[in-house]
Amino acid sequence: MSGPRLPYQPGHYPTTRLRRNRRDDWSRRLMAENKLGVDDLIWPIFVHEEKEQRIPVASMPGVDRLSIDILAEAAREAVSFGIPAVAIFPVINSQRKNEEGTEAINPKNLVCRAIREIAEQNLNLGIVCDVALDPFTSHGHDGLVRDGYVVNDETVEVLIQQALIQAAAGCTIIAPSDMMDGRVGAIRKALDQAGHERVRILSYAAKYASAFYDPFREAIGSTTNLEQGDKRTYQMDVANSDEALREVALDINEGADMVMVKPGLPYLDIIFRIKETFGLPTYAYQVSGEYAMIACASNQGWLNGKRAILESLKSFKRAGADGILTYFAPQVARWLREEAEEL
Ligand code: PBG
Repeated sequence: MSGPRLPYQPGHYPTTRLRRNRRDDWSRRLMAENKLGVDDLIWPIFVHEEKEQRIPVASMPGVDRLSIDILAEAAREAVSFGIPAVAIFPVINSQRKNEEGTEAINPKNLVCRAIREIAEQNLNLGIVCDVALDPFTSHGHDGLVRDGYVVNDETVEVLIQQALIQAAAGCTIIAPSDMMDGRVGAIRKALDQAGHERVRILSYAAKYASAFYDPFREAIGSTTNLEQGDKRTYQMDVANSDEALREVALDINEGADMVMVKPGLPYLDIIFRIKETFGLPTYAYQVSGEYAMIACASNQGWLNGKRAILESLKSFKRAGADGILTYFAPQVARWLREEAEEL
């Protein structure tokens, strides 16, 4: 995004013809205000603990849940493409889920094993991990439920423990995605006290109570559990935009290094406002529902998948995002490499 502008001078037709700059491929490239590169991508990966190496996610055609033994391969693949970071999401066996989500703070849980598997290889690769209880709770909520309400402060105490074991396992970017109040500050303090002052915090600062997460919930098996209610008492109201700025302001004060807006494409205005107002590293999450829409329409032949994907990602950049979490990351990295080779 650019700095201060001169007074707007539109010019006049026919001396001014904007189509001149659009005439040739080389010229369009030269004029392009924003570029999408592999450095802009974070690849979210689902890991599971079943015997099969890959289990497809039905609601996300083209996305598989990976076993830990092939996760390492996926991580190396990410590095070979030049993707800077991966984000790990665990599919927890339903027998291990309970009301309190205690598996979330088991240092030998699936997430921690997955982190170690990647960290041990000493790759030049960031490891992002969610902090939230939903993959671990039988009810599918991100926090502890007391009298039908997801309680804040008691949940934060558990999130601190979750962040600590993930950092100890080698996670380099802790990403609280639970939308509890005050959790960023509490986690920052606990990380620092434990000697993890170099571990970064990417706050899901503006996370909306969205309909676009359903395929993700199917992927991690928390959908049916959520029937008792949705997440509107903690995730943001879709109607709000000023409130997103308040969320980000608080998280910055609490020590967030980066912030995220989620979902992505329906919230480009939020990305724009946050980047304009605070100027800190700002990321977009092109969530599972957005993935499913593009992947399904493209599989049907109803739209050109490659063009639609690249257009959506470029739009995030135009809105001001510094990077995008997208399930299309490896595919996009492949295309970007091909394009570079063609030129
Ligand atoms: C968990 C979490 C969710 C997603 C990422 N972390 C789901 C939710 O909040 O219900 C959604 C990601 C996606 O849809 O791709 N807190």
